Amino acid sequence: MISMKRILLASVFAVAGFGTASAADLTVGFSQIGSESGWRAAETSVSKIEAEKRGIAFKIADAQQKQENQIKAIRGFIAQGVDAIFIAPVVATGWDTVLAEAKEADIPVILLDRTIETADDSLYLTAVTSDTVHEGKVAGEWLAKTVADKDCKVLELQGTVGSSPAINRKKGFEEGIASASNIKIVRSQTGDFTRSKGKEVMEGFLKAENGGKDICALYAHNDDMAVGAIQAIKEAGLKPGKDILVVSVDAVPDIFKAMADGEANATVELTPNMAGPAFDALKEFKDSGKAPPKWIQTESKLFTQADDPMKVYEEKKGLGY
Ligand code: AHR
Repeated sequence: MISMKRILLASVFAVAGFGTASAADLTVGFSQIGSESGWRAAETSVSKIEAEKRGIAFKIADAQQKQENQIKAIRGFIAQGVDAIFIAPVVATGWDTVLAEAKEADIPVILLDRTIETADDSLYLTAVTSDTVHEGKVAGEWLAKTVADKDCKVLELQGTVGSSPAINRKKGFEEGIASASNIKIVRSQTGDFTRSKGKEVMEGFLKAENGGKDICALYAHNDDMAVGAIQAIKEAGLKPGKDILVVSVDAVPDIFKAMADGEANATVELTPNMAGPAFDALKEFKDSGKAPPKWIQTESKLFTQADDPMKVYEEKKGLGY
């Protein structure tokens, strides 16, 4: 016979949401941007690992950097009746219609690593991202501290036009150097977060700026563009990391290699594990109905050449990179 105590315990657990839908019952669709950078590729592989750990069926659609492909994929996930949709939005605007369709179908949406602009934040459950304004600010403050009073002309490689990290990392960097009147951004252009575009745009910058002889620093919105630009600086006969300081964002293994070689100076870390916290928030929401906070913020940490870059390189290799 079942004791009264067991019945009571069972009802307490049910109210608390334990023992309801297990994560293994969930199917999640992920509209991923593409594979423009080393960080992006790591995010994709870490997401798969995090899904596997929890026994979640995980479907990834690669949008090849196109918003229209993302919208198509999201509509496909809605038609399949998935339990939730994760989206890494390539640009910040233009999501309201498709997100309203997901809401109408009762499918919660979680934004990963990039935010959107919308007047209706009920269109998504939560966003798991870093503070991308802060990342830019940390990079700017590092530069201001490093060059002190010296006049410093800066080249800026922006991320994808209209994407939240490109908008925010630009803003944050400008805030970081605002009180340093000796630092001036003299050129700023998109390199679309890719290594090849970063190199190409940097070559153009250097040609237009007297071969780069008067340039003091490069700020790149991600490490991949920085790595491409480092190559361009070397080909122009200058020493990256010395003649031109290099600061960027992401903390991928290759930038630590460049730091160890003295060719890059600083990077702000962005974790590729956005999916782990997203799965946990989703599970709790499904079990208890409790909505997570609208923003689940991941950490940002500055690394410089003083942080034993070769050791960090070794640690990072294998963490999804
Ligand atoms: O949204 C995150 C950014 O997207 C990363 O910094 C960049 O490498 C990626 O392409």
